[in-house]
Amino acid sequence: MRRSDFFKTALGAAAVAGLSGFTRRDNKAIRPAEVWPAIDPEDEQFWKFVRTQFPLTDERAYLNTGGLGASPYAVIDAVKAKMDELEKVAETGHSEELWKEVKTDAAQLFGCDPTELAFTRNATEGINIVCNGLPLKRGDEMITTTHEHVGNAVPWLALLKREGIIINLFEPSTLSAQENVDRIEKLITKRTRLISVPHATTTTGQVLPIKAIAALTKTKGIWLFVDGAQTAGMFPFSLHDLGCDAYATSGHKWMLGPKETGFLYVRKDMLDVVQPKTVGAYSGNGFDLEKRTFDFTPSAQRYEYGTVSIPLRFGLGAAIRFLQKIGMENVWKRDQSLSTRLFTGLKSIPYVTVLSPESKTERSALVTFKHEKVPYGDLQRHLDTYKLRTRGVGEGGVNALRISTHLYNMPEEVDRALEAIKSAYKG
Ligand SMILES: Cc1ncc(COP(=O)(O)O)c(C=O)c1O
Repeated sequence: MRRSDFFKTALGAAAVAGLSGFTRRDNKAIRPAEVWPAIDPEDEQFWKFVRTQFPLTDERAYLNTGGLGASPYAVIDAVKAKMDELEKVAETGHSEELWKEVKTDAAQLFGCDPTELAFTRNATEGINIVCNGLPLKRGDEMITTTHEHVGNAVPWLALLKREGIIINLFEPSTLSAQENVDRIEKLITKRTRLISVPHATTTTGQVLPIKAIAALTKTKGIWLFVDGAQTAGMFPFSLHDLGCDAYATSGHKWMLGPKETGFLYVRKDMLDVVQPKTVGAYSGNGFDLEKRTFDFTPSAQRYEYGTVSIPLRFGLGAAIRFLQKIGMENVWKRDQSLSTRLFTGLKSIPYVTVLSPESKTERSALVTFKHEKVPYGDLQRHLDTYKLRTRGVGEGGVNALRISTHLYNMPEEVDRALEAIKSAYKG
């Protein structure tokens, strides 16, 4: 169906009428559309349609996907339907076939093999699996940034407490991508075993040059772990191409999945290096207690264990299909267009300094800024009164405000945020 035909249908008319002028204030569900308009990232009508696929109301502008993503009806309905189906028969619904299907779709999104993916509850769980599974011992050194989220800080600090590893820190530089590679290189010693960096920092959304860092670690026999909580579902990438050894992410941020979902990627040849420590049913291919034998699965499923929520995994699969339907290139175009609108607008507001990188290749859909005259906590409270949900950034002493823009946000919401920021200081 062509776009013009779509908008002539009852469904299309309802979808567009419901959003005309972008004034929908109720929370009336327009259920997932069976027929989609032509996907055209340049067409504002298409993105208005996408917005109708989320229960988000227009009263509040949700600008914190970096904290938690909104889920579309397609995901919510998938979770509910699976739960209804399973509760009728009180079964777990565990199905290796379903798991394989979801991992196959995820592997397409991440550019890896499905057998290199494990389901996790969140990015933090994936980080813990790597942190506790690598053979790191007292005196071994690792390098990370001063801008880590608690999820990629506390597991390593706990390892420091428990095992006496040494953590060396560098401050991410927005000068250039190469400057970050240089800062890492300066910290490398003979005892460096691991580099653990975010794909995009939680603080300023800066995309770090993972490929260049991987090239460096490879020559020196150092492991590279990437915290991908802020990039999966935001832009297309290939883990095989990036060259990291392991990568953990959330399903419930940019991927739009149900809450308490995530993925851990461990490259095939690293599966025997990252030891599974929390294990049980599904970690292995059977066991024999009498003979005292047990083998791990030959895949990253070895990091999974015990009873899990099938509705959540089913919903995560629906989220990936939703993203795939739009196409990651198109999702990224939309996210970039919104964040560039914000970035440019912020730069013209007196007393505002944008902390996110100038370079387009290092900038993501997270934009962080400071107001010289208004402390960030006060600014956030001011924006709250305009019903704008933002996130304060205290990590690394950044003390600033972060705005995330994803495919369900509209240019009008960005403009609302800019107007509200302008009104925060009347000097
Ligand atoms: C860079 C980074 N790492 C890890 C996390 C933790 O994610 P989760 O809550 O899914 O464990 C976050 C959450 O905001 C994050 O921004």
